[in-house]
Amino acid sequence: MRALGGAGPPDRAAQTHRLFFALWPTEALRSALADRVATLAPPGTGRPQRPDQLHLTLEFLGAVPTARLQAVRDAAAAVRGEPLELVLDALEYWRRPRVLCLVARELPPALAALVQSLRTELASRGFEPECRPYRAHLTLARKVGQPPGVAAVDPVRWRATDFALVESVTERAGSIYRPLGAWSLQR
Ligand code: 2AM
Repeated sequence: MRALGGAGPPDRAAQTHRLFFALWPTEALRSALADRVATLAPPGTGRPQRPDQLHLTLEFLGAVPTARLQAVRDAAAAVRGEPLELVLDALEYWRRPRVLCLVARELPPALAALVQSLRTELASRGFEPECRPYRAHLTLARKVGQPPGVAAVDPVRWRATDFALVESVTERAGSIYRPLGAWSLQR
């Protein structure tokens, strides 16, 4: 609610940030992923993910007030993980969110442990626990009305030595994903 007496400066603490934790690709990997978007989600397959937006979600937080940002960073700093490797090797169409994604048929134990550690650290700081079972996936295209035909997938190997906190900023031209920080998985 705005204070009586005119438009003062916006209340910074009341602002929110749309946040998620993710594996953020290196430039070399991003280019390999962009190739997969081009072949598996060619023009006409909904709204293909732009190369600069490609990421692998670890935990989606949604709108977080500015005042809670430090708690999110504290949760990340408390996470215990180790370098991991996963293989994205199958194409799936998720009917309800209408997304086409590349998924990992096998969830590496180190990735499952990283997601679990994030969930635990966030929950202990009062963030609402995620109830969806974790699925390692890379969204290739959104707003896909019709699943494309079955396609052979050239597997992508993803090695991660850190994870990132990312903000999704909605702009006139669409969403921009901006990494706010990264935490090492090296011991
Ligand atoms: P993504 O498509 O950008 O990776 C909100 O629903 C967000 O959570 C989605 O945009 C999706 O992010 C991510 N998400 C949806 N289902 C998920 C699941 N089962 N496991 C992990 N992340 C998921």
